Amino acid sequence: MTLIAVLAGDGIGPEVTAEARRILEAVRPGLDYQEAPVGGAGYLASGHPLPEATLDLAKRSDAVLFGAIGDPRFEKLERALRPEAALLSLRSELGLFANIRPATIFPALASESTLKPEVVDGLDIVIVRELTGDVYFGEKGQRTNAAGLREGHDLMRYDESEIRRIATVGFEMAKRRKGKLCSVDKANVLETSQVWRDVVTSMAADYPDVTLTHMYVDNAAMQMVRAPTQFDVIVTGNLFGDILSDQASMCAGSIGMLPSASLRAWSGDTGMYEPIHGSAPDIAGQGKANPCAAILSAAMLVRHSLDDEASAQRIEAAVAAALDTGARTADLGGNLSTREMGDVVMRALV
Ligand code: NAD
Ligand code: IPM
Ligand code: MN
Repeated sequence: MTLIAVLAGDGIGPEVTAEARRILEAVRPGLDYQEAPVGGAGYLASGHPLPEATLDLAKRSDAVLFGAIGDPRFEKLERALRPEAALLSLRSELGLFANIRPATIFPALASESTLKPEVVDGLDIVIVRELTGDVYFGEKGQRTNAAGLREGHDLMRYDESEIRRIATVGFEMAKRRKGKLCSVDKANVLETSQVWRDVVTSMAADYPDVTLTHMYVDNAAMQMVRAPTQFDVIVTGNLFGDILSDQASMCAGSIGMLPSASLRAWSGDTGMYEPIHGSAPDIAGQGKANPCAAILSAAMLVRHSLDDEASAQRIEAAVAAALDTGARTADLGGNLSTREMGDVVMRALV
């Protein structure tokens, strides 16, 4: 039996995950689903954002379909009890160091981006974001310093092996695509980035088919809106990848369009699949959220954890066909509800 853990989470998480699950059930009948609370929902259910039973379920599942976490009610809790802690723990406990965030423009959306159509037309980027290191997981704390002032710190660090394994994913991905890998760092200022750049550079000789370039993250942010189609594969650290992928989402039309896969192996292993967006408290409970990012995450789930490329393409084609009919949620200027958008994608499945 193939077990899918459904961790819908908070805010719009349950709304968009319901649509993703519906599509998954239609495309791959017979999978076993188990739901468990996570994030604010986990805290409410059992006093911890990642209840033990939820982590256990994730560990023994073949794949995790994740919604979103985050709830303003819990922002004042100590960090370990906040919803976000659950997501970070899941990533590190499952060893999901490689976060694949594709940003592609569906043809129907090219003229609807906030950027000019000629700027985003043909957009097809994959951001390979390291997911279990960097400032996210370095030593952190707060204290009162000698001047009596409150002070906070978060250590940025990567060692060579962490850089090598994520860069390998970037090189391999580029090899299978247009052969262009752009490594994004801040090596002009940060020692962490200098090690990053040195390691990535030292690997280039093993990939003669890949053209490696380096870009500072500030320039990359600018290039992402100036000429985003120059990029093929971007490999970068946890924090820079987080920021650049939200930015890339707007090149694709909306943050509601970008899926992700968090992996420890390319295929046939437990992975976690989630939209890149958050719980969107401003629209939660209103049925306004765009479910496409969640649905496209389900496509990545079947592609990577179930080794089923045909079903993945079937889901992606259905999203494209749904958008071709003019179906849009509010983020893309339309008036369909989350459920109605899911219905259109469902009907577009062939
Ligand atoms: P967010 O991504 O939740 O929302 C940013 C903006 O985008 C909001 O205006 C929201 O309405 C809109 N938006 C997001 N997803 C959408 C969708 N599918 N359809 C239409 N509009 C959408 O980011 P935020 O507001 O900075 O964070 C809210 C909460 O979510 C915080 O608690 C944050 O920590 C959490 N968060 C969680 C994840 C995750 O679970 N992976 C990711 C990002 C943020
Ligand atoms: C994401 C989110 C998370 C991150 C937060 C909620 C921990 O922004 O998945 O992009 O920063 O990785
Ligand atoms: Mn993010």
